[in-house]
Amino acid sequence: MSHLRAWIVAAASTAVTAALITPTVPADAAPTASPGVVGAQTAGDSLFPHQGNGGYDVSHYDLDIAWTTPNVITATATITATTTQQPLEQFSLDLEGLSVDAVTVDGAASAHARVDSGDTFKLVVTPASPVSGEFTTTVTYSGTPVSHTDPDGSDEGWVATAAQEGAVALNEPVGAMTWFPNNNTPQDKATFTTRLTVPYAAGLGALNRVAVSNGVLVGSPTVSGSTRTYTWNQPNPQASYLAMVGIGRYTASESDVALTSGTTHEWSFADPSATGSGRFATARGRLSSILKGIEKHYGPYPGSSTGLVLDVSSLGYALETQDRPYFENSIDGATLIHELAHQWFGDAVSPADWSDVWLNEGPATFIETQVGADLGGGTSTHDTYYGDWKSSSASFWATPAAGFTDASDLFGSQVYARGAIALEALRTALGNAVFTDVMRTWLETYGGGSATTAQFIDVAEQVSGYDLAAFFQTWIYGTTKPTAWPTAYQPGTLNPTPTPSMDSLVRVGRRVTVVTSAWDPGATLTYRWFLDGKAVPNAYRSSYVATAFSLGKSLTVAVTGRRTGYPSVTRTSSPRTVLRGFQVPMADPTVRGNPRVGATLRAYPGSHSNTTLRQQWYVDDRAVARATTTKFTLRPQDRSRVVRFAARWTRPGYFPVVKYSSRLRVR
Ligand code: ARG
Ligand code: ZN
Repeated sequence: MSHLRAWIVAAASTAVTAALITPTVPADAAPTASPGVVGAQTAGDSLFPHQGNGGYDVSHYDLDIAWTTPNVITATATITATTTQQPLEQFSLDLEGLSVDAVTVDGAASAHARVDSGDTFKLVVTPASPVSGEFTTTVTYSGTPVSHTDPDGSDEGWVATAAQEGAVALNEPVGAMTWFPNNNTPQDKATFTTRLTVPYAAGLGALNRVAVSNGVLVGSPTVSGSTRTYTWNQPNPQASYLAMVGIGRYTASESDVALTSGTTHEWSFADPSATGSGRFATARGRLSSILKGIEKHYGPYPGSSTGLVLDVSSLGYALETQDRPYFENSIDGATLIHELAHQWFGDAVSPADWSDVWLNEGPATFIETQVGADLGGGTSTHDTYYGDWKSSSASFWATPAAGFTDASDLFGSQVYARGAIALEALRTALGNAVFTDVMRTWLETYGGGSATTAQFIDVAEQVSGYDLAAFFQTWIYGTTKPTAWPTAYQPGTLNPTPTPSMDSLVRVGRRVTVVTSAWDPGATLTYRWFLDGKAVPNAYRSSYVATAFSLGKSLTVAVTGRRTGYPSVTRTSSPRTVLRGFQVPMADPTVRGNPRVGATLRAYPGSHSNTTLRQQWYVDDRAVARATTTKFTLRPQDRSRVVRFAARWTRPGYFPVVKYSSRLRVR
């Protein structure tokens, strides 16, 4: 991070440099004023380390974009965010290309600078004074957007369509920054209002351009002079990469689409020059049955509306833009199901890191087959993905479906096909009902947010009760072809699973070991120790040494057995009370000196750590007052009596130990 910071300082305009050097707190301010935070210029993504920003979390983007031919935009982005680190004295937004005319924060003009270097495209904002809590940033900007080339060579971002017809903006993974300043990470989802203004001439009638985005069309488009404005509102959290714009001489259609969960409104748009425009009505007509078909397996449609956008651009692929997927030139049946399935997987739950993108493409590919088979009698998911596994080459498996480190693998066949194969393998192992429960729980748990592959595995384990670490290692992370298709996991438990016991009484300071004989030989055992029912921190081993603190408490040990293909089983021992410990063996003290009146005797009690020693001299077995050190001078009245020394060692949690010297007759 420090090198990034240094870079910014070097790249910053004089205004920002000045702001960085000028103390934001007057020199005579109270010394308790905390220093301002500079937001990180990364969200920490493993594949796109220069995307996203720290220090704040966006809740809403209000985008006001006017487009004119040939492909120029004049725009204002109003971004509502809340600081996550404060006071925030500087933060960045992702923005590539375009010119920034002004930036305000909470209404006050703010210093701003651009970074445009390698993969880093930032608008760095230094508010007039640091912000804490909710704050609003407005960015007015303009220019001809640039498109962005991805690591795999494909293009994304804002592109002009042919013959100055309009433009299309598609953003997966990072193209959003080519048309609006944003926190370009799927971890920071926000609601959107997108106002799009396009040229308008009454005389053109239906040939006028139409502008489309995500969510719900607010009211009717408004005409003002030679422009027409469409306002789109996305009330659900939406990742920047799922925001879209389409501007074109579209045919617009709308309807109410019946869902199992109610109805949703459809706004669809097609460029009549697209090859597939003749079959556009057919695709629209399938919306209800496909959405219901997905709902049947995965629960209620998560969108705020629906619709299809069909245009002709240089981008060349379809995208699951939220609520309203985009299609390039034509819409085939499988892709239609695929992009609609993404509304659940990808749009409702987004990947937390781009290396988790199989969580989007795996389910969308799987559902394309599943719902395709349900509705049209196509090949089943089993036959498709079992067959794909069987016929796959070893080299196909060399790239993992998740956690890959080369960004050009983002849309590789492993993400799609391995992802779908893994889901069918999981369905085979868990059975259809449990598998479906896993997928629904995933959507219910993380809908509206973003999550990781580890969190998906966690949901699958929680819902199924199976230890699935080895399963996901094989099917998602591994780099060799799995040798066998899974068989259905055995319901029931490991056998046998005996209740553990302890090998001895439990005493402070003494090691007690769990006895776990005769567990299922295939099971891996883990241990957890509890005192009075509370888990002891870091007590994960098969043996345990009680401390003085646990004296009198009730100790139990829980043993969990895990075996791939079986639900894990935990068995807890019966309790044992922690008893006082025995201190280490201690020798009798020795006494040296001549036992005659007037002479001084000296005792040697030996030393033991962690103990408290009390000493006492006795004459004829009666304690001598104040004779409590190692030295004792014999008095006249001690003549002919018997003297001895006693040492008493105490230690919390242990029995005390008392040892006596031998007896000496005083002369
Ligand atoms: N997520 C899209 C799909 O549903 C693919 C996007 C491809 N994007 C790209 N820049 N190559 O399949
Ligand atoms: Zn997809």
